[in-house]
Amino acid sequence: MDSPTPPDVAAVTAVREIALAAGAAAALRLSLIHMNTDPDTLRRLLWLLTCHGVFEDAGDDRYRHTPSSRLLREDAPRSLRYMVLWATEPWTWAVWPRLDEAVRNGKGVFTDTFGKEFFTYLHEDAPESAGVFDRAMTQSSALSARAIAAVLDLSGARRVADIAGGQGLLLATLLDHNPHLDGVLFDLPDGGSLAGRCRLAPGDCRVSVDVDADVFILKNILEWDDESTVTALRNVAGSARPGDRVVVIENLVDGSPEMRFTTAMDLLLLLNVDGKKHTRAGLTALVERAGLRVERVAPVGPYLHLIDSRVAG
Ligand SMILES: C[S@@+](CC[C@H](N)C(=O)[O-])C[C@H]1O[C@@H](n2cnc3c(N)ncnc32)[C@H](O)[C@@H]1O
Repeated sequence: MDSPTPPDVAAVTAVREIALAAGAAAALRLSLIHMNTDPDTLRRLLWLLTCHGVFEDAGDDRYRHTPSSRLLREDAPRSLRYMVLWATEPWTWAVWPRLDEAVRNGKGVFTDTFGKEFFTYLHEDAPESAGVFDRAMTQSSALSARAIAAVLDLSGARRVADIAGGQGLLLATLLDHNPHLDGVLFDLPDGGSLAGRCRLAPGDCRVSVDVDADVFILKNILEWDDESTVTALRNVAGSARPGDRVVVIENLVDGSPEMRFTTAMDLLLLLNVDGKKHTRAGLTALVERAGLRVERVAPVGPYLHLIDSRVAG
């Protein structure tokens, strides 16, 4: 299929910037806005946002922050700014209209829409979007890294490898909590970066993993088709020794207190990488299919689970 008509990036950016930039001030007076917008129409947009709890109408064309709008600020302690930007990046506006087709066929639409796989496209054609993506993943990991470090006993481990570890925030947190450990950050060559007590290992875990470690973590990466998931896990197991630990950390579509994020991401993953979020039984079965022995499945915070497994043998 030909590339779709690209969404009007300027318009999309303007809408997002209004929502985000408006959050930069504690109160906003429409008449003072120097953004290139029509005040009456901007007021209509703000009405919509206030209905959803993003800003509060304070009367006289003034708007106050709400807990939701504060999350759009970069300096908010639990900021979701980059997650919001990522979920509304220009490429998403090209794939969501094909949801009906994806639901009918059970197949993603990204490769057909853009002519290449999602991560290849991000790194080759949309470097700004790749930057937003990396920051979004780091922002999301910042919400859970300490909780993961608290439940993951690494006292007996020597070296931990984070496979597809992005910018390395989780790995850095685990190293902070475990001063005896060192780490390996494995990601695509154009992927993450981490300075400090850690070795970088560029690679594609669907092709091979050659990392010396005794604990392997895979957080929010086994979200593509099942064959890729099993292949990546087998590659990890092939790089490990019998008895080494493989820890999968994921949002499951069943059994978590907070499901709204996971179920929305489940459909976006269908569209962009022909992937999915898993059920507990489904993901456990894939881990076992890869030859790993599952020892426990435990919740971590309101929306993540950890599957602790060992390389058999
Ligand atoms: C959804 S993010 C997860 C990042 C990190 N684990 C986290 O939870 O924040 C996916 C990461 O996987 C990396 N990645 C995607 N495909 C990969 C592959 N085949 N091999 C290695 N890394 C990959 C991307 O570069 C990106 O950093």
